[in-house]
Amino acid sequence: MTARELPFFARDLFEADKAVLLRLIKEIGTGADQRFILGEHTAAFERMLRESLDAADVVACGSGTSALTLVLHGMGVGAGDEVIVPAFGCAPLAATVLGVGATPVFADISRHTMVVDPARIEELIGPRTKAVLPAHLFSMMADMPAIADLAARHGLRLVEDSAVAQGAVLRGRPAGTWGEAGVFSFVQVKSFGMPGEGGVVVTANPALGDAVRMLRNHGQDGVHRFVHHRIGYNSRFDEIQAAFQQYRYALFPARLERRARIADYYTARFAELADAGVLPPPAGRDGRCYYVYCLLCERRDELKDWLAERGIGSHVYYPRPLPRQAAFVAHARQGARWPVAEHAAARILALPIYPHLTDAEVERIADAVCAFARSTASNALAEPEGVPS
Ligand SMILES: Cc1ncc(COP(=O)(O)O)c(C=O)c1O
Repeated sequence: MTARELPFFARDLFEADKAVLLRLIKEIGTGADQRFILGEHTAAFERMLRESLDAADVVACGSGTSALTLVLHGMGVGAGDEVIVPAFGCAPLAATVLGVGATPVFADISRHTMVVDPARIEELIGPRTKAVLPAHLFSMMADMPAIADLAARHGLRLVEDSAVAQGAVLRGRPAGTWGEAGVFSFVQVKSFGMPGEGGVVVTANPALGDAVRMLRNHGQDGVHRFVHHRIGYNSRFDEIQAAFQQYRYALFPARLERRARIADYYTARFAELADAGVLPPPAGRDGRCYYVYCLLCERRDELKDWLAERGIGSHVYYPRPLPRQAAFVAHARQGARWPVAEHAAARILALPIYPHLTDAEVERIADAVCAFARSTASNALAEPEGVPS
């Protein structure tokens, strides 16, 4: 019998909850009030998250990207302001800053964790810096204690991009609650993903929550229809998804735990591969959310092909640093360099980690990576070049 294909993006993520989803579509779709956005289910979903995070407010909106825009706009970040963002990460980190008229300033990352390096952030703070926007990425939370400290010392607004890190906890404090505002994304592959688009803003500042709530629905106050207090956006939340996510929240810790166990297993198996050019992420559970499991590999493209030949999907998050993307290159500082981000972009590879992988499948993936490492001549991981001390 040939082993089944293990795609990187699982095709059956919502299979176990399909009956509930179909029931909700019918109930809400045929409900007497015909309310499909921003109704009682959205309000209850927001309340549930607010209480579980002990936040001042949680505002559901159209996506994680939109959540970042709403926060930046709500904080009054705009033309003439600079926002420090990681040089390695997803496009919304830079695009949302540019979208509100401000300038992203790209800070290099730490070699092993691949999240933004607080020392690099601090070097970039200047008179125009208005906010810091660190992101948790792959399985790592950013160093929030250090970043919160530097934001406080320099009087900067702190926005925590926790789009991928819902459920992670660092030193007892949940992801999303470290900054003045945090965001989560529910796009399907995220740790609390759903079959559609959506996100939330989590905030400790009630006034910012009010501003975001107004901005998400064209500047209306939620009481008087078609009365617009300010220019806003269409970034509303879907009632069916809100009801579905409430149902699924009780099952979320078990799925996170399964992801963490798979990661623990991979990391233990790969611990001895550093001399063969394969470096797993740091071991441990604090400040970790196993949204994707990324390792560094000196011969990344060969490993990707090797896995594909064995029916195992993998993915490159991200093939180049943000300031090297055509979309953002013109906005990057002239002469600036991001050697650690370049190093990661050439070596990073994500392995499948969805919770319903069986133990045998997880073992098969780990075996394939170890067999690759043994098959090649010793080729230790290179160091990034030109890193300032
Ligand atoms: C770190 C990070 N921030 C923001 C986003 C944007 O979230 P969304 O896809 O819901 O717009 C994503 C996901 O794509 C992400 O990975």
